Amino acid sequence: MDLSRFNLAGFGAWDAKLGLPAIHKVSDHAATDLICANIKGFVPFLRFNKDSGKLKVLVTSVLDPQLLETFKIKDIAASNPIKAVNRIKKSIKHDIFILIIHAQGERIHEIITGCGMDADLIIDGETGKVDNKTRIIAGKPVVSSNFGGKYLTYIDIVKTGQNGVFSVGQPVLTRVKAKLVTPEPEMEALVAKYEAERREILRQERERRERAMMKKRKPKNIYLGSKWCSRCHQSIVESWQKTRHAKAIHTLERKNKVHDPECLVCHVTGMQDKNAVNGFVSMDVNASMANVQCEACHGPGGRHAQKPHEIKMVPVSEKTCRNCHNHDTDPEFSYQHDLTIIKHDGEDVPVQSK
Ligand code: HEC
Ligand code: HEC
Ligand code: HEC
Ligand code: HEC
Repeated sequence: MDLSRFNLAGFGAWDAKLGLPAIHKVSDHAATDLICANIKGFVPFLRFNKDSGKLKVLVTSVLDPQLLETFKIKDIAASNPIKAVNRIKKSIKHDIFILIIHAQGERIHEIITGCGMDADLIIDGETGKVDNKTRIIAGKPVVSSNFGGKYLTYIDIVKTGQNGVFSVGQPVLTRVKAKLVTPEPEMEALVAKYEAERREILRQERERRERAMMKKRKPKNIYLGSKWCSRCHQSIVESWQKTRHAKAIHTLERKNKVHDPECLVCHVTGMQDKNAVNGFVSMDVNASMANVQCEACHGPGGRHAQKPHEIKMVPVSEKTCRNCHNHDTDPEFSYQHDLTIIKHDGEDVPVQSK
């Protein structure tokens, strides 16, 4: 089976929040088709053949305009979802009809009664929770989208009568991460690709915000990187280079995770510091701030480096370490003991004075 031909996703509120330009940029390069019948610029529906062309499966998706209001999204216009679906349903021949609905509460019911009464299966795109039961809304089988990609779900649609009657099975969940069931490798690859796409969206968004912030603020301080510190604290820099802090980014490289913001934050320097500039953004923007460098513990050193005798660095405390060495990442962390492992060698006598 050529899975890639069936690889599609309904455009939902979380996607909308990221803005159309970002979404279009990503979906242009993605194997996943984003479909939406009532917002301009998207593929409105997809139809594919099943059983060597004997069955035509029509899939379309709508995003309720009220949902855009709830999410306070002002720059995207959605037309009447019921009219949009009814138009497609009438003009596109099909045997099986699948409708993806992004709406909340009573609105799902309204949209189903308005245009989904002929649907063989309805996918509720907004329910965040994982649910392996088919719900019945307005007499129609409705399944949840299960966290968009974290779980794989498959559903059998079986023809039961001559006159185009289909029955929908119970959805079967496969937790991709835990690999409870071994999914088809092709399917796994698609999911991995999908997750990579989502990360890319988040990464771009984060960089955009970071750049906007840099422009706006008059920074209180600036990150320099350990090369700068070595001008006056050479032996400390050399001793730091022997610690695992100096290799933290290689650890992520080994795991193929250097582009995952969730991992990077503790394996780099200054990534979430809103009060100073030049903290790590991404490997493309400033790889020089990768690894747990001096300023990950001592704070940004720009002002100190200018006037070392007048401007002190922020004192390091147990709390500094525990920002990264927490219950999940290092349950056995002991400040007293672990400090001895990373302690700077020798008394560094700063070579430069003012
Ligand atoms: C910005 C996050 C961050 C901060 C702050 C931080 N660490 Fe770490 N630490 C790490 C990471 C990430 C590693 C793992 C590096 C690797 O191997 O990739 C690590 C590794 C270590 C190790 C090596 C563990 C081993 O078993 O060899 C020790 C010891 C350590 N840290 C002690 C400390 C102490 C003490 C502090 C506070 C004074 C501290 N760290 C502050 C992120 C941090
Ligand atoms: C909250 C901070 C934090 C986050 C987020 C984080 N790490 Fe770490 N990581 C650490 C610390 C601290 C250590 C050192 C723990 C130790 O002493 O073994 C570490 C160590 C590691 C190690 C070496 C552990 C070993 O046993 O060899 C790997 C691999 C690693 N991290 C990968 C990741 C990946 C992948 C992610 C994202 C999914 C991630 N980390 C997210 C703080 C973090
Ligand atoms: C993992 C956290 C951590 C990292 C990374 C780190 N330090 Fe420190 N540093 C400490 C702690 C803890 C102390 C001792 C307590 C204090 O003075 O706040 C210290 C002390 C110092 C001192 C005071 C003199 C001394 O030797 O005690 C200097 C100078 C210093 N660090 C510079 C650096 C430089 C330069 C780097 C980067 C090469 C660096 N530190 C990296 C945690 C760190
Ligand atoms: C131009 C030289 C110079 C540079 C560059 C420099 N320092 Fe220092 N640093 C000093 C001097 C001199 C002292 C001692 C200040 C004193 O005792 O009055 C010092 C002291 C420190 C201390 C001890 C606590 C304190 O604040 O006095 C820390 C920690 C420290 N430096 C970290 C750093 C880090 C991290 C960097 C790189 C971002 C850095 N320094 C860059 C000259 C420098």
